[in-house]
Amino acid sequence: MDKLLLLLLLLGVFPAVFFQGLAPPTVCMVCSNFKRGHCLRGKSNCTMEQGPGCRTRDFFIFTERDGWRLNHTELDCWDYCLPSHWYYQTLKISVFCCKGRDFCNRYQGKGQG
Ligand SMILES: *[C@@H]1O[C@H](CO)[C@@H](O)[C@H](O)[C@H]1NC(C)=O
Ligand SMILES: *[C@@H]1O[C@H](CO)[C@@H](O)[C@H](O)[C@H]1NC(C)=O
Repeated sequence: MDKLLLLLLLLGVFPAVFFQGLAPPTVCMVCSNFKRGHCLRGKSNCTMEQGPGCRTRDFFIFTERDGWRLNHTELDCWDYCLPSHWYYQTLKISVFCCKGRDFCNRYQGKGQG
């Protein structure tokens, strides 16, 4: 009987501990204009409890003369973050996602360099 009780206890308690340990909340940087590692406008932070979390978006503009050039980078939280590339005519947006390390989104994309 004791063994059964112990087993039930382990089954009940372990998953809760395990999943909390698996997905600790990540603090992400929020910025509406991030350049060369600095936030020029709208600096703040947000917290992702789970999911792909922190988002980095590089905005490129195409010109005949220069081709695709980075215009600015935006940082925020997004529940449905998916790494991807979007094209709208002369605008291209590259999306990066990260979690598990606070402010990891400031180290993604081209805004850091
Ligand atoms: C997040 O921002 C708030 C104010 O906007 C600040 O008080 C807090 O310290 C920040 N958190 C971190 C982890 O930097
Ligand atoms: C380009 O960056 C500036 C800020 O440096 C911003 O005001 C403007 O909206 C951006 N253009 C596009 C198309 O995102």
